[in-house]
Amino acid sequence: MSPKRIPFIAGNWKMHLGLADAAKLAREIKDGVGAGDAEVALCVPYTALIVVAEILKGSPVRLGAQNLHWEPQGAFTGEIAAGQLADAGCRYVIVGHSERRRLFGETNAIVHKKLGAALGAGLSPILCVGETLEERESQKTWGVLAEQFRAAISGLPPVEAAKITAAYEPVWAIGTGKTASPGQAEEAHAFIRKLASQAHGDGFAAGLRILYGGSVKAENIDALMAQPDVDGALVGGESLKPISFLRIIHYTTPAAAARN
Ligand code: PGA
Repeated sequence: MSPKRIPFIAGNWKMHLGLADAAKLAREIKDGVGAGDAEVALCVPYTALIVVAEILKGSPVRLGAQNLHWEPQGAFTGEIAAGQLADAGCRYVIVGHSERRRLFGETNAIVHKKLGAALGAGLSPILCVGETLEERESQKTWGVLAEQFRAAISGLPPVEAAKITAAYEPVWAIGTGKTASPGQAEEAHAFIRKLASQAHGDGFAAGLRILYGGSVKAENIDALMAQPDVDGALVGGESLKPISFLRIIHYTTPAAAARN
């Protein structure tokens, strides 16, 4: 990865953990993260936001949410606004996760609106894009990634776009134990960086952090992070296991090993 981009490991706890377990896990991660590590964020369930915010106070570990509504307020029963997340202490919010797209009908147009709402409230969105297995097998990967990425960031002023982190999450690799090979990840990340350059120029593209997500674990993080366009990881299942997640945060690459 480029020295310009700070590596970033984000955990997505999804719909897991009650308050006691959430607090315990947040403490374990906070205690295990040291100076010089990658930037770390925990994207926790809404119910745990306040408790985890309190635990992370004064630590470098950031708080994130997993979704938001695009309106700033209103009669939207069961939804949550960007401003409310910022108020709860969030720095990050995941937008357009494939589970939201697939199970809750989120379209590219909705993802675009959510991205704007997050940025408007001062949050840094983690924008997820990725193809299904069927799309990959029918050679549609590049078209799908281009459509998802372009639709999401279209019309955003460059200074706002610069606050986005992208996440390449092939749907076939999420929660399946089947990870993209480092070569497959690199190919997709380089392609997304090219899309970023077309949208807002080389400076934007060079600064854009692109995370890989999909069955990231202690055993595959080093090889993924050794790829030049892989700037970090969005970790689901393994982010619930403190020892594994800390090992992911403490990844090593040949370049890092040579420095030590
Ligand atoms: P996984 O999930 O690590 O459990 O595959 C990744 C994600 O959904 O972000």
